[in-house]
Amino acid sequence: MYWFLLWREFKLSQAELLTVFSSNSIVYQSKEILILDWLKKDDILNTASFLWWTIKIIEIVESEETIENLILDCVNTDTKFKYGLSLYGEKKSLKEILNKTKKLLKEGWISSRFVNKDFNNLSSAQIKWENLIRKETDFTYIITSKVNYFWKSIWVQDIDSYSSRDYSKERDMQVGMLPPKLSQMMVNLSEWTTVYDPFVWLGTILIESLLMWNKKVFWSDLSEKMVETSTANIKKLISEKSLNADLDIFKLNAKFIEESEYFNEWVDAIVTEWYLGEIMTKKNIAPDRVQKQRDPLEKIYQAFFAWLQKINYSWAIVISFPFWEIRWKYYYFDEVYKILWKYCEVLPYFPTDYQVQASKSWSLLYKRPSQLVWREIFKLRMKK
Ligand SMILES: C[S@@+](CC[C@H](N)C(=O)[O-])C[C@H]1O[C@@H](n2cnc3c(N)ncnc32)[C@H](O)[C@@H]1O
Repeated sequence: MYWFLLWREFKLSQAELLTVFSSNSIVYQSKEILILDWLKKDDILNTASFLWWTIKIIEIVESEETIENLILDCVNTDTKFKYGLSLYGEKKSLKEILNKTKKLLKEGWISSRFVNKDFNNLSSAQIKWENLIRKETDFTYIITSKVNYFWKSIWVQDIDSYSSRDYSKERDMQVGMLPPKLSQMMVNLSEWTTVYDPFVWLGTILIESLLMWNKKVFWSDLSEKMVETSTANIKKLISEKSLNADLDIFKLNAKFIEESEYFNEWVDAIVTEWYLGEIMTKKNIAPDRVQKQRDPLEKIYQAFFAWLQKINYSWAIVISFPFWEIRWKYYYFDEVYKILWKYCEVLPYFPTDYQVQASKSWSLLYKRPSQLVWREIFKLRMKK
């Protein structure tokens, strides 16, 4: 059994995991963790670096033993035994467990040091810096009402990998940029290999897609400048990473999507973030200004989906569109819902009897803490 430590946005974490692994394997879920069975360790490790909303993966055993004795059994060195312990689930004192373990190790003449700071759970950064995955000494203990689980981490997210992303030198344009983690998750949700983004902007989705397994990407944008910028960003990545990729670019207003030649044979997933409209600040955001953004956008999206229906587009669509928060009130993009209900089937993220629910409209919601615009992510298929 494997235990996945989730991000604060646990629904996104769970949706991603249940897309990548089978939902038949669910053993337990909470806001912090998802436990899955029937998975192979090699498969998990091969996939792990593409799981953007998982913090840590732990191989677990059910045990009647005390946690202190289990740690004692794991001493694997003649030199100083360096380890970490994190505690999840029902309340118990980590300080007490750590002190008791230290005492037992001392009684056994084992020199040891726990790396927990101030008796708190370890962060991904601590685990990485202390090299605990390779040493096999990052331990986790989870106490549920039914059973206690304990074991070692087999993988922890690489917190430094995002600092290597360089989307554009034009930093001013990055206000409101689709976060790389969200792009990666959208690519995972699409489950396909040839991705088309008709609102490409800086190319975030396609860059993340290329960094994962997809080596065929297509894109278009209304703006000549964004066609140039995204092309430069994507070509730079391909050259830096020596990727062997197929690509094609087009300047196109998505309202006239019928002019795109990509659909004839290539595209098997549309993964895109729709235009968010003007970037607004706390000072100038207002309901009527938001409405002004929505009206022209509706026409583009209506034309876009009408055409996909006309050509019987039957592949995946993962799409993010905005809604706004103004003084704790939400302004949803109702016009878009009407278009989606008319043309599309919304695909569920979770099994029907699952405790975790998506939003009322079966989407996933995401907002960066400082932003006023929310993103609503749908997984769709065209109605026949
Ligand atoms: C929110 S950005 C998309 C974010 C992008 N997917 C990313 O990965 O960062 C919106 C983009 O849509 C483009 N756009 C706006 N209206 C459009 C239209 N009618 N057709 C095509 N592109 C459009 C804008 O030029 C901008 O580059």
